[in-house]
Amino acid sequence: MEWLTAAVVLLVVAVAGVLRWRRPAWYWLTFGVVLAAVRVLVRYTSVMEACGLTVPPPRWRLALARLTGRPVPQARAPRLLRMRPTRTGLVLRLGLRPGQDAFDVAASCDRLRHSFTMQGVTSREIRSGVVELRMTGYDVLKRVQMPAVVERFPMRVPVALREDGAVHFRDYRACPHALTIGATKSGKSVYQRNLVAELAALPVALVGIDCKQGVELYPLARRFSALADNPDTADDLLGALLTHMEGVYQLIRAEQRITADVLDAEIAADIWDLPDHLRPTPVVVLVDEVAELALFSNKDEEKRRDRIITALVRLAQLGRAAGIYLEICGQRFGSELGKGITMLRAQLTGRTAHRVNDETSANMAFGDIAPDAVLAAIQIPTDTPGIAVAGDATGGWHRIRAPHTTLRQAVNACNRHAHLTPVLPGLDAFRPSVAPPARPPVVFPAQPVEAPTTA
Ligand SMILES: Nc1ncnc2c1ncn2[C@@H]1O[C@H](COP(=O)(O)OP(=O)(O)O)[C@@H](O)[C@H]1O
Ligand SMILES: [Mg+2]
Repeated sequence: MEWLTAAVVLLVVAVAGVLRWRRPAWYWLTFGVVLAAVRVLVRYTSVMEACGLTVPPPRWRLALARLTGRPVPQARAPRLLRMRPTRTGLVLRLGLRPGQDAFDVAASCDRLRHSFTMQGVTSREIRSGVVELRMTGYDVLKRVQMPAVVERFPMRVPVALREDGAVHFRDYRACPHALTIGATKSGKSVYQRNLVAELAALPVALVGIDCKQGVELYPLARRFSALADNPDTADDLLGALLTHMEGVYQLIRAEQRITADVLDAEIAADIWDLPDHLRPTPVVVLVDEVAELALFSNKDEEKRRDRIITALVRLAQLGRAAGIYLEICGQRFGSELGKGITMLRAQLTGRTAHRVNDETSANMAFGDIAPDAVLAAIQIPTDTPGIAVAGDATGGWHRIRAPHTTLRQAVNACNRHAHLTPVLPGLDAFRPSVAPPARPPVVFPAQPVEAPTTA
């Protein structure tokens, strides 16, 4: 009988070991979460004390102990209000003691991570006196698996996983325009592809500008209402979008009809205030490799470049209320691309930086909003494409990674939702043809290699 028990224990340990090595997410859900919860509960007080997160007992308890001859009470750790296991880790709620602040906890995160042997620990203040500690049990960014069920809102799509296990959303209504930068092969196009695959299921119009001859966006053409694959078409397309924007504003004006008896909440100032049956479809404009639009080599191209950048700046300044959202990707996005670029950048509130080659590029994304994110962006290793630092206008930032969606998966998602592709009047001329392009002549016909002559 004993050997049977020993064999079962050995088997369980072996299974746990293999899961931990090959499938950390499964390991966490089966063994990891229980072990970590027990470890946190058992070690809680001693770890808090070792990390300097305790306060001396109050005077009245000391006096009471002295009067009654009891032992002197111990220093007190923050109250553990709640512990909640999640798919990727544990979430603790701590009630701070008088004299402690959220900064103390934030400063001790790295110590807590080592003491509880967790992969990552972050903290945030919930309300005065209550701090939340989010712990991750394993490296969630190594092999990104998005949760099967994600809470959905209009114009908000899950696009990546955050280091602390939470889902990173791209929320177009909270943050209308975004800039994604990163060196070549750092994961920008995969990030954008994820975005398209998620947006495909929503009632939005997708407009793409991909000057890499359309290699990234044309395969997804069935879900795109308009596509441009060279700067000339992009120029015309942006002009048509400006006309579309003016049309939407005229519609909003016509619907305002402000009279004394219209309630304040019913005065329409953007498309979301309009009744459902009148609301124009929101448009997401995706631009890949934006520098291609800003470079020129002769006078004509310079004029075209100025028109394109001016149109983008106008869309960024005025587009939000008309439901036009910009999503711009590039390797660098600084003043060396010419006039108007920094003005455009200032309008792109959502910032994401993949791996960059130098500090200047990281500064282009975060220099003006979150200086400490610059350091995080240049520290992204080369062997983990897709890892990025995402910031927002509040100065907060997170390390994120999008799931590795292949082009095939994105194409399938777009084809599945092709029936949702709206026809935008005015942009019809740019609707991509879904027939495969004619095969171009071979550019470099293979030359027969001459066998080396031997003497
Ligand atoms: N989130 C990711 N997870 C895993 N691998 C990724 C991820 N993003 C990118 N990669 C890998 O990096 C390669 C280059 O990514 P890509 O998006 O084309 O780079 P960029 O557009 O920045 O040049 C992809 O082919 C893929 O193999
Ligand atoms: Mg790319």
